Amino acid sequence: MKTFKAAPLIFLLIYTSIGWPTHSVCKNSHLEIYYISCDPLQDFAFTLDSCSGLTTGSVNIRAATVLRHSIRELFVTVNLFFNGKSIPIFSRQLCEQNHPNLSFCGKKKGEHVYYEGPVSFRSYDIPHGDFNVTVELFNGDQHTIVCTNFTILSR
Ligand SMILES: *[C@@H]1O[C@H](CO)[C@@H](O)[C@H](O)[C@H]1NC(C)=O
Ligand SMILES: *[C@@H]1O[C@H](CO)[C@@H](O)[C@H](O)[C@H]1NC(C)=O
Ligand SMILES: *[C@@H]1O[C@H](CO)[C@@H](O)[C@H](O)[C@H]1NC(C)=O
Repeated sequence: MKTFKAAPLIFLLIYTSIGWPTHSVCKNSHLEIYYISCDPLQDFAFTLDSCSGLTTGSVNIRAATVLRHSIRELFVTVNLFFNGKSIPIFSRQLCEQNHPNLSFCGKKKGEHVYYEGPVSFRSYDIPHGDFNVTVELFNGDQHTIVCTNFTILSR
């Protein structure tokens, strides 16, 4: 993984021997979601108002992190892991240099980012089963801003 190559060995050692805790996102009778930061250098705070919003196409989220790199440009990719294969399911640019469309676009290294608000997406029925989904945010220099592995248990 490219992010691992750039990470100083010492952090890699600490990370692999301790790792980040697993956080619970939401749970109802049909859905359980957990995540763990896959950025070896920092954890990530994330909450969802409820699991059920995921099937209606709009959820309120809260997410917070401290930036280790500036985000004049910010991209997000979402990959689904299935049968040991990584399948890209979503990819888009969130911040453009000349159009800071979101409140946190343009923030610099060391600054805190806090986002609270709705995220809407094409609604779909989450199929039954267990899935792992990795969400990665990176800037224009390919530096990881946030990396999280979600585990989704759908019944
Ligand atoms: C995140 O998921 C990827 C793909 O399944 C895996 O290679 C990696 O080890 C996971 N990282 C953590 C911290 O769970
Ligand atoms: C940002 O806003 C500009 C102007 O409204 C628009 O053209 C562009 O598509 C938007 N970019 C993103 C990433 O939403
Ligand atoms: C998802 O990740 C967890 C923890 O890394 C692993 O135990 C599980 O086998 C993975 N499940 C799938 C469907 O890839």
